[in-house]
Amino acid sequence: MKTVIIIGSGIASLTAAHKLADHFNVIIFTKSSYKESNSAFAQGGIAAALDKMDHPIHHFQDTLSAGKGANDVRMVKLITEKAGNLIHELEEIGVQFDTQNGYYALGREGAHQKNRIVHVKDQTGKAIIETLWARVAPRVTVYEHTEVTGLIRKGGVVTGICTLEREWTAYAVVLATGGVGQLYALNSNARTATGEGMYLAYQAGAVLKDLEYIQFHPTILKGKYSILISEAVRGEGGYLINGKQERLMSRYPKGDLEGRDLVSAVLHEAIVQGEDIYLDVRHLHYFSTRFPFLYQACLQEGIDPARTPIPVAPGAHFICGGVEVDQVGRTAVGHLYAIGEVACSGVHGANRLASNSLLEAIYFATACADDIVSESKKNPPVHPDDPFSHVLVDPQEHLLPKRDELQQRMMHQVGIKRSQQGLQEMLEWLDAYRRKPASCKQSFEDKGMFEVATFITRAALTREESRGTHQRSDFLTESSSWRERTIRFCYGKMSV
Ligand code: SIN
Repeated sequence: MKTVIIIGSGIASLTAAHKLADHFNVIIFTKSSYKESNSAFAQGGIAAALDKMDHPIHHFQDTLSAGKGANDVRMVKLITEKAGNLIHELEEIGVQFDTQNGYYALGREGAHQKNRIVHVKDQTGKAIIETLWARVAPRVTVYEHTEVTGLIRKGGVVTGICTLEREWTAYAVVLATGGVGQLYALNSNARTATGEGMYLAYQAGAVLKDLEYIQFHPTILKGKYSILISEAVRGEGGYLINGKQERLMSRYPKGDLEGRDLVSAVLHEAIVQGEDIYLDVRHLHYFSTRFPFLYQACLQEGIDPARTPIPVAPGAHFICGGVEVDQVGRTAVGHLYAIGEVACSGVHGANRLASNSLLEAIYFATACADDIVSESKKNPPVHPDDPFSHVLVDPQEHLLPKRDELQQRMMHQVGIKRSQQGLQEMLEWLDAYRRKPASCKQSFEDKGMFEVATFITRAALTREESRGTHQRSDFLTESSSWRERTIRFCYGKMSV
């Protein structure tokens, strides 16, 4: 039996593993416990046009409108049309979504015209992971706490991976390593979301694109732990206020349910003006039963949401860009696939619509698995003059910044509002490290963070307009000349 290696253990990984396990020897590598991923933190749910008054075309339109003209329309059509079927497939393997009067209890989130979020209370991701894990774990080999430090490429295709201890050969490698939220001081992400999967792919010859589009989630609980307060809370009627109890979003047509890019920008501006921001749910009598996890999280921070507005701030949440893939998750390099947040399928454009991330992960994991099965029956193309062989990352190449300093600088100079001056300063600060020799042993994870931070900063500096999540104080509006242009990195070069 041929081997397929999957790196990462979120919903994209486990969905692909579930589909592949009958055909291949599947090995999952995850650098932490399988339980730790952004998917496991996902609260809101999965968007699907399941209401009688809804239609995939509305979901399609909302996704495009949130993405501000930067989406790949074909990809959006694929996932929005398939969403309902994917929900039914999850139910078939045992996921029990919340219901009301015998039908799905469909929640509402920002920038959706309709109620279309299927959920399992406020821990949808965890519920799906547990169901998938029960199906997958007995059928695959899992190496937890095992870091992948390089890809092996021979004859034009990826033929395996390296861990610290040894090399592993595979017919195909699937990257499902998640996003980059940990590059930012305030974020909603798992500790593992450090972005080095993107760097691994880039080193092997894959293309990175749309990295300037970093989505900030408006409501991260300001406390000991940076816990996400789901947008579904605003969908149920929660609203944002300042310290004077004034509503912050009331002058916008969709109010507190505007797109995340706009809500985060408004909150950021208020914070810059010295205001404190709160999410007010005191009037939501059923808050503790609809959002039991969040209710407990607030209590643990000493906040009783029934009496006190919840202090929040926007934090890095999702990267819309990543490793460029086609409609089945294939990267530019043979036998290397990318699925979930590490990938850039073009679905999200410049700003992801709420609850489209799990949908994208499941859609592409399924398509990727089908492609691997059908491709494995053919003879792979071989390019004998391929210059690549082992593609190892060397974390000792030069000095790396301290992680917390990198995170603070990313937050302030490559955060919600960017400017040429701030981005230029950030690049110079990063570049200075390339000239200093490493003085102690450095981690592969920190090297990946450093390189991905550099790509994001270069892309943000290059895009001289504001679009979706990429907001420039020196280019305040969208520019028609930038609309069709994407920023890509490949083989040491940036192209626009
Ligand atoms: C949320 O529950 O607000 C997050 C869901 C998402 O990122 O789509």
